[in-house]
Amino acid sequence: MNKERIELKELAEFPFCLAPMVGLSHVVLRDLIRQYIPAGMDTIWPTEMLNSRRIFAQPIGDTPETKKSPFDSNLVPQILVNEEKFLKESLPKLESWGACALDINMGCPQSKALSHNYGVSLMGDPSYAHEIVRKARQYTELPLSVKLRAGFNNDKEFLLKFCEGLYKAGANWLTLHPRTPKQKRRGDADWAQIKMIKDTFNLPLIGNGDVQTWEDALQMRQETNCDAVMIGRALCSRPWLLWQLAHKLGYPSPKGREGESPPFSPEEEALEYGKSVMFFIQSSFKYFEKKDAYKRINFYIRVSHPWLNFGHSLVSKMAKSKSCEEMLEECDNFFGKSQLLMSQKTELRY
Ligand SMILES: Cc1cc2nc3c(=O)[nH]c(=O)nc-3n(C[C@H](O)[C@H](O)[C@H](O)COP(=O)(O)O)c2cc1C
Repeated sequence: MNKERIELKELAEFPFCLAPMVGLSHVVLRDLIRQYIPAGMDTIWPTEMLNSRRIFAQPIGDTPETKKSPFDSNLVPQILVNEEKFLKESLPKLESWGACALDINMGCPQSKALSHNYGVSLMGDPSYAHEIVRKARQYTELPLSVKLRAGFNNDKEFLLKFCEGLYKAGANWLTLHPRTPKQKRRGDADWAQIKMIKDTFNLPLIGNGDVQTWEDALQMRQETNCDAVMIGRALCSRPWLLWQLAHKLGYPSPKGREGESPPFSPEEEALEYGKSVMFFIQSSFKYFEKKDAYKRINFYIRVSHPWLNFGHSLVSKMAKSKSCEEMLEECDNFFGKSQLLMSQKTELRY
């Protein structure tokens, strides 16, 4: 077997990871979630999607999207790319920045990406998409992955052929978010398609979509046999979801929380969410310019609050706060009273 094909298991020894998300999967969120990884284990860590046309001209490592912390490891930056000249410029730059693998975005359905023929547009031209992976292979020795969606109109034959072409072109693993481009991030993700790809090729595959709780994450692994589960919005809301999973699987507690059980009750989870928000605020002001810190904190709270009772009140208090201290004080007041974080499935807005 190709040596590079075993990389995912080595990198994601703990087989659950954060999803790449614009405005969210940055140094602060990674540092926050990392606190809940079982001691002595690691997984892979994404960036938000990075535009390959900009990377070569940017001071990589200094932009908000590419800042790193001393705790960062196993970084798998994600790029939007569709031209060889930008692959040639950006891959070595990301490699020297500290990437341990590189992920190509073939799943973004947003109009901005579509207008440049990036993201899921590449699924509309399979031979060109495969060529992008073949070309990428020429410019890096690192493992390569592709994040993609279900086929247009859920065409399973198409998806099988598309994935086969990606693996053959040199992708070491794929991440499948089995919603169609039209669904964007709404409605059910069809996990059967993750199982279909895993059963057919038996090659490294990450499953993504519709995971809201630790039970969902375990169920996805069991139903699909995927090698790892990628979680986006729910991991913003419950960074300790990784600890809950570790606890259920008999892995060690996170460093510094030995002998403790993860929060499970609505009261315990709300308290932990309060701690997470406060960490996020403090750390954002450390890493980002003020204006950017406010933007990122408010976005994080808007995306992560749906399970918090009266979460909308926290959203509006944060949006009105004018300094780091004011934000922390509002949090102190809010979480000083008993709050509840619920765990029923919910339709997510973002
Ligand atoms: C705010 C936001 C931004 C996102 N940005 C990206 C991105 O940059 N690249 C990407 O591949 N997917 C992106 N996604 C999609 C997620 O990676 C993931 O596939 C999707 O949210 C489904 O997983 P979830 O239900 O666990 O959130 C984004 C999702 C959200 C909510």
